[in-house]
Amino acid sequence: MVQHTARHRVGILGAGNIFGRYVEGMRTLPGLDVVRVADVDPARAERAAADFGIPAWGDGDDLLADDGVDIIVNITPPRFHADTVTAALDAGKHVYVEKPVAATTDQARKVLAAAERGTALLGSAPDTFLGSAVQTARHAVDQELIGEVIGATAFVRSSRAETWHPDPRAFYGPGGGPVLDMGPYYLATLVNCLGPVAQVSAATRVGAPTRKVTSPERVVDEVTVEVPTHASATLTFASGALGTALFSFDVWDTELPRIEIYGTEGTLALPNPNFFDGDVRLKRHQDTEWQVLTPVTELFGAVGSPEQHRRGLGVRDLANAVEGGPLRAGAEFAFHTLDVLESIQTSQQQKRFVTLGSSCERPAPRTSR
Ligand SMILES: NC(=O)c1ccc[n+]([C@@H]2O[C@H](COP(=O)([O-])OP(=O)(O)OC[C@H]3O[C@@H](n4cnc5c(N)ncnc54)[C@H](O)[C@@H]3O)[C@@H](O)[C@H]2O)c1
Repeated sequence: MVQHTARHRVGILGAGNIFGRYVEGMRTLPGLDVVRVADVDPARAERAAADFGIPAWGDGDDLLADDGVDIIVNITPPRFHADTVTAALDAGKHVYVEKPVAATTDQARKVLAAAERGTALLGSAPDTFLGSAVQTARHAVDQELIGEVIGATAFVRSSRAETWHPDPRAFYGPGGGPVLDMGPYYLATLVNCLGPVAQVSAATRVGAPTRKVTSPERVVDEVTVEVPTHASATLTFASGALGTALFSFDVWDTELPRIEIYGTEGTLALPNPNFFDGDVRLKRHQDTEWQVLTPVTELFGAVGSPEQHRRGLGVRDLANAVEGGPLRAGAEFAFHTLDVLESIQTSQQQKRFVTLGSSCERPAPRTSR
């Protein structure tokens, strides 16, 4: 286990649904002190500060002006990411932003330009690929336990946001949908294991055009769908591997696996990439049984428990980079995954294969237990 001695003063922007999971997750990790919470609705920030024992609260301007904050964790809805992240980077704060890094690649380019013109670092969710499951799969691929990788499948099924999120409009509006909302977890997993994507072809559609909201604390009763909710894509990786991906907020029940990676010598089966940990299973062609691989890193939380819903490993990754280590959940990686996901819609609209303009290095593997 790496020892961290430096302390990082973290301010959070956005005190909504995922806020508590960030605070709880970061409090399990070394060196991260949550010192301020900000929201466009300061009363919300005040309540969040009181609920979680955070010493300072206010609005976004208060956060930017606070010299006692080194890292801003931006957990506002996607349509606000571009402006709020750019302002924070220009104010000299390191930023870790929830996915997608911005609602569109055009907006994301401006955010990356802001990171490049200053010295502050930019990290972005998802961070679950830093957990033991994807790291173990990556290690297995790198050790060639399945031989040469030929292909992979990914299947994003509905997270049923209308049943649990008080305001699921963002899930069905620009920057949302199964491709942009849940797709980043699956793409981050595939790109981390297989490398960058070179070409995309896809078809998309809307399933049910309105969604009834049944969550107990709902603030709206119905949501109008503004983005595709069912998509099928073929991803050609730069390595030559072929990915087959389904993204759907219309499929609630299925028996398809979430992610599998196929090689010349065998198959790897991965757990839900929305979580950090879980069994990674290997079956080589000569094996009669699947074997569960020993995790190559420490677990983030107990498998199957609410601890897997917490967030924060990506903030710790950014803190490592501030201390001089590699930035794994970095802006270039997040941009490439967003570019791939956006190309799914472009392919549908223009009825053609899309050749990706972006690429990225595979993030450095995590090797410490
Ligand atoms: N909710 C989840 O389960 C979940 C899971 C993973 C990732 N995410 C990501 O986290 C982010 C936030 O999601 P959420 O579900 O918590 O959203 P939410 O709508 O519940 O909360 C967002 C909060 O941000 C505040 N806000 C909006 N604009 C702001 C601005 N300009 N400045 C300051 N505060 C502002 C809102 O007042 C609200 O309190 C999104 O990027 C989403 O993709 C959410």
